[in-house]
This record gives sequence, structure tokens and C-alpha cells, in this order.
Amino acid sequence: MATQLRAGDPADTTALTAIDVTDPGLYAHDNWRPWFARLRRDAPVHYCADSPFGPYWSVCNHADIQAVEARPDLFSSSHVFGGITVVDLFGEFNLPQFIAMDRPRHGEQRRVVAPSFGPSEIARMAQSVRQRTVELLDTLPFDTEFDWVDTVSIELTTQMLAILFDFPWEDRRKLTLWSDWGGDIEAALNPATKDVRQQHLIDMTNYFDRLFAERKALPPTADLVSLMAHSDAMGDMDFQERMGNLILLIVGGNDTTRNSMSGAAHAFHQYPGQWQKLIDDPAKIPAAVPEVIRWQTPLAHMRRTCVADTEVGGQMIKAGDKVVMWYISGNRDESVFPDAERLDIGRPNARRHLAFGFGVHRCVGARLAELQIQILFEEMLKRRMTVTVTGEPEYVAQSFVHGYRKLPVVIRRH
Ligand code: HEM
Repeated sequence: MATQLRAGDPADTTALTAIDVTDPGLYAHDNWRPWFARLRRDAPVHYCADSPFGPYWSVCNHADIQAVEARPDLFSSSHVFGGITVVDLFGEFNLPQFIAMDRPRHGEQRRVVAPSFGPSEIARMAQSVRQRTVELLDTLPFDTEFDWVDTVSIELTTQMLAILFDFPWEDRRKLTLWSDWGGDIEAALNPATKDVRQQHLIDMTNYFDRLFAERKALPPTADLVSLMAHSDAMGDMDFQERMGNLILLIVGGNDTTRNSMSGAAHAFHQYPGQWQKLIDDPAKIPAAVPEVIRWQTPLAHMRRTCVADTEVGGQMIKAGDKVVMWYISGNRDESVFPDAERLDIGRPNARRHLAFGFGVHRCVGARLAELQIQILFEEMLKRRMTVTVTGEPEYVAQSFVHGYRKLPVVIRRH
């Protein structure tokens, strides 16, 4: 899985016009690296004329991705054009949510939820996140194989969402269920499952509507449900928009942080010297967190739609064209991150990673995600836990969520 292209590798010899980096096989087999290395070398802004998602542009290097993100008036996020992933979502799947809106509505709604992720709220949540992390870690066996994804990553991120929403604790696995259905675009398009999925999303919105009504009747607090219920910009959303924004917050905070935690276990397994550095000096943990997120890049891409003819990286992009920004590639751009494949907690510019995006849509939950990962590392080190991967990881087979289905591990005491 070298970042570097090997001469003769299919990624090196395939005609540029035949390359389609949305191919799920590249992600299922963890074989995306050489393909993006090829595009960064030979066609950093690349046109794929024919894919299951129609024609699209790939933007593959760090500078060009930032250039696209920096011009939201030219590169729209709007759901009206099909949304923010390479899959065009229209009709019943095209839910209004602020990640898939342009200004002014985007800013109005983002400002409603932002206080939940501000410094004072983060400090307040840190206590509960730590307590829950400790409780979970104390249940983990030493020297016995288990699945890190389900036991640690899923459980911790679900708990964090429950804290963020001040969601009834005993019902928290409903959040996992809704997140899994909500984020499953394949299920949305499959006639055999689409109604089941839709019913889950309706149940979710009805459940939250009860919470909204309860919180509205109480003085405002800083949890997400109360903030939305008491706000002007989000207090009057219709059913579809409530559904869309709930899914955004649930899926946005779930798969991403989950896969950072899974990626962390896998990365430190492959670079044990880096974990040793943390064992020797836990003060390095805050620097390790952005590096792990860069290395994993839990969302492989975000998509924009070009609204007026323009140029990016020397290529002419036309109004209406779909533009896919491959964060997974920008974060391996050797001109910004030398020896980019290597996990290096001492990397001086790890914070320049693009895993949270860039510009007006940059992840609103970034600090909360970092906090959770930081606390996880701190508490693992206090318990002298070193994770070893004991079998083949199972990867998510799609080009949007970049992550793990299963990661068999054993914990040993160091
Ligand atoms: C490591 C974990 C995470 C990663 C990698 C991640 C990644 C991203 C990315 C790439 C974007 C789009 C940025 C852009 O278009 O420029 C985004 C936006 C967003 N994220 Fe995250 N995210 C993470 C954690 C979270 C958490 C914990 C939450 C909260 C529950 C959250 C909620 C959101 C929301 C609401 C948006 C939309 C922001 C906007 O459109 O203004 N994310 N995230």
C-alpha cells in the first residue's frame, strides 16, 4: 500500500481517460493509494467522462482542493444541484440540510448549532466523554481478540452523540441504527430496502419532535436539541428539513469519528514506534490527534457543482459540472506532507490536513471529534494498553465514507 507509484502497476499503465476513482473496489481492497498518486502526478484535475455516477471532475492535490473550497459562490454545495457527494441525490433522498446549502441559509443554520461546539461546551462535554471512555475501556479484555470497530469505535461515538443531543441514555443505540440507515446511500437506492430506510428516518424525526417539544417548553440550554428548538433559523423547519439536518448531525458525527478511532488503532499497529513515543511522552497526544485524522481521512471526498465556467489547475470547468474534492488524496500530497503515507506524530504541519474540509463548510464538530480521540489515547495510555491488529481489516466498500467494518485486535499491556 505504498503511496508511491510502482512502474508497471495497473495504476501506472491504465489510460488516464479510463481511471474512475469512485470504483468501490479501490476502497474495499484498500488499494486507492497508487491511483491517486498517478492522478496527482499526471492529472491533478482529472475528468472522468463515464462512471456509475455520471461524468465528474476529480481535484486531487492540496492546493487545488483549497482553491475550490475557497470559492463557495462558484462551487455550490446546494442540494438543488444534487448535494455534496458524488452520488446525485434528488427527489425523496434529497433532504435539505445545511451542509448541502449555500449562503445565506447555510450560515443562518450553522450559527444555530455552532454554540454546541464552542470552547465552553467542549469543556463541559469533556468530563462526560472522559467518564464514558473510562467506563468502556475498563470493560475491555486483555490478551483476547475482539472487534475494535463495534466494541470501541461505534460505542464511544454513539455515546458522544447522546451527550451532544442530551439524548435519553437508554435509547442511545437508536442513534447508531438511524445513523447506519441514514448514511447508507446503497440502501436508499435499493427498492428492497428503501421503504425500510425511509420508515427509520420518519421514526427518528418523530422521536426528535417529541424531544424538541419538551426542550422548547423549558428554558434554553446548550445541547443541540434545545438550541434548534429555541432558534429562529431552525425552529420553523418543515418535516423534511428537520429530517435532513438531524441526519446530518447524526451521520456527520458518527461514521467520521468512528473511523478515526478505527484508523488510529490500525495506524499505530503499523507504526508502533509512534505509539511508543506517546507511551514515553503523553504530552505529545495533542499533536498525534490531527496526524491520525490526516492519515485516516474518514470522508474520502466532498462534492461541489460548478455554477459558472471557470478554471482550476489549468483545466476548464463548465457550469453544471460535478467537481469532487478528494481529501483522501490531498492528505497524501507529498508537496505538503513529505513521506505522506507514514504516520508521524511529530509532523509539524499535520493540522493543515483537509479531512475536516476547508472554508465556510469546514467541519463544525472538528474540536469535539479531536477531544474524543485525545481522551481515548490518554485513557488507553493510563491503562498501559497497546493495540495489535490480529487479522485482516474489513473495509467499507464505497468512495465517500472511508473506513472499517471490522478490525480484529488484541490489547496487550505495555
Ligand atoms: C474526525 C471526525 C470528523 C471528520 C473527519 C469530519 C469531516 C467533515 C467534513 C469533510 C465536512 C465538510 C467540510 C467541507 O465541505 O468543507 C464536515 C462538515 C460537518 N460536520 Fe464533520 N467531521 C467529523 C466530525 C464531526 C462531528 C463530531 C460532528 C458533530 C456531531 C460533525 C458535524 C458536521 C456538520 C454539522 C458539518 C456541516 C458543516 C457546514 O456545512 O457548515 N462532524 N465534517
